[in-house]
Amino acid sequence: MPEGASVMTGDELLATTGGRELERIVFSGEAIAARVRELGRDIGSAYPAGTRLLVLGLLKGSFIFLADLVRCIALPLQVDFLVVSSYGLGTTSSGRVKALYDPSTPIEGRHVVLVEDIIDSGTTVNELVPELRERRPASLEVCALLDKGLADDLAIRPRWVGFDAPTEFLVGYGLDHAEDFRHLPFIASI
Ligand code: IMP
Ligand code: MG
Repeated sequence: MPEGASVMTGDELLATTGGRELERIVFSGEAIAARVRELGRDIGSAYPAGTRLLVLGLLKGSFIFLADLVRCIALPLQVDFLVVSSYGLGTTSSGRVKALYDPSTPIEGRHVVLVEDIIDSGTTVNELVPELRERRPASLEVCALLDKGLADDLAIRPRWVGFDAPTEFLVGYGLDHAEDFRHLPFIASI
């Protein structure tokens, strides 16, 4: 059993992955929970009391992170989601993100926090941020659970980052490999 999977027995871990081996646990569930609480407090204290946030989660990867994060933010807020097509990214004639689901919530005049699972090349953020800015939010910030630190030309620096991530392929806590492993309660490399 990889070190850090302490909440599971080896058998439970194998049952969870369908027998597939993980390389190592990179961030334990306990470490993630502690960091997410800090992020929630940081976000809550970054805005004047009473500010109504619109927390926009980028699906699917952010679904667990977002669920935990919003419960740690002591501000009134609303939640919506964005789904973008990875195939559509930068390949449409307009060179823009192809939104498969676009929030029905109006963004104009809102204080928006875009929640990402992981920033890798930065393409997603770079394509989405100008698109969202066109809708004239009162403010727009990015919160990413993980940042591989590879993107040096980001349209916006994430204001909040959970962890600097190693340049390995990571799964768990929402992150997938070919749609598998999202439900692992920790983040592992494969
Ligand atoms: P970017 O557009 O290159 O910054 O990549 C962002 C997206 O790629 C993330 O939202 C993830 O869905 C996916 N991604 C990048 N790196 C990883 C990884 O290590 N594990 C799982 N998904 C990843
Ligand atoms: Mg993915």
